[in-house]
Amino acid sequence: RRAIIIDTDPGQDDALAILLALASDELDVLGITAVAGNVPLALTEKNARKICELAGRSVTAVYAGASRPLVRPLVTAEYVHGKTGLDGPDLPEPVIALQEKGAVDFIIDTLRERASGEVTLCALGPLTNIALALIQAPDIASKIREIVLMGGGFFEGGNTTPVAEFNIFVDPHAAAAVYRSGVPIIMFPLDVTHKALTTRARVTALRAHDTPVTRAAADLIDFFERFDEDKYGTDGGPLHDPCVIAWLLKPELFSGRDCNVEIEIGSELTMGMTVVDWWGVTGRPRNALVMRDLDADGYFKLLTERIASL
Ligand code: BDR
Ligand code: CA
Repeated sequence: RRAIIIDTDPGQDDALAILLALASDELDVLGITAVAGNVPLALTEKNARKICELAGRSVTAVYAGASRPLVRPLVTAEYVHGKTGLDGPDLPEPVIALQEKGAVDFIIDTLRERASGEVTLCALGPLTNIALALIQAPDIASKIREIVLMGGGFFEGGNTTPVAEFNIFVDPHAAAAVYRSGVPIIMFPLDVTHKALTTRARVTALRAHDTPVTRAAADLIDFFERFDEDKYGTDGGPLHDPCVIAWLLKPELFSGRDCNVEIEIGSELTMGMTVVDWWGVTGRPRNALVMRDLDADGYFKLLTERIASL
């Protein structure tokens, strides 16, 4: 089993990613660390606990991390995710307690306890917690197997500014630290996630399983896709974050290439832009496997089967 820590800001698509991970025996979820992003930290950590309970996995430990980005003020996205961050289904208040230890200490301690190359970090929100861990404990960089993250966009552009994707835009300084850390990065930018559309047919297939978890998952998607459907005029919206977990389970669903990626932190106009050297024109070292395509039907089949098994 592959040991993972999920760093997240739920968020409906984060919630679906957590459900997929908790439903998958191949993965050992060591803990879930919450970060401020889609909504403030007090809500993201609570939402993470709600989702563990929905999955029937109350033993999963949830830790709260950074309440704001390293340098810039927090920007949230209630206009996409609703006031709670998990608008859609009516989920009960969580019973499981938040862990007392902070998320950054949990990440550092876990990596130090485990053998090198054992733990994968899955990042579904702004990279603040992971950057803080790497800054406070540089020794952990060599112990992380890889960081698999949803963030950025290159040919596809941005969804928060013309050139910046939300997760990177919210904490570009954290992203810059992560991309320069030397830890192998697997990156799922908008270029691939915009091809993972929650079409009517796919949501209907999920809902048809008619379990409490698939009903809640379909309600989450129904709320979440509204915003992007209107904006992009597509059948369904992009289901970004579960791509990270799906890749751990079935990497053959995705394709991309090794590139150099640098994060823009110098210009207000292009702040948080992921500068991806797709064509290898700079000669700078490759620091990320950048995904661009996926088998969307295979992705939704995997997601649906697993979530229906909870
Ligand atoms: C990313 O931003 C958030 O709104 C989503 O949860 C996803 O992680 C997409 O840009
Ligand atoms: Ca997210």
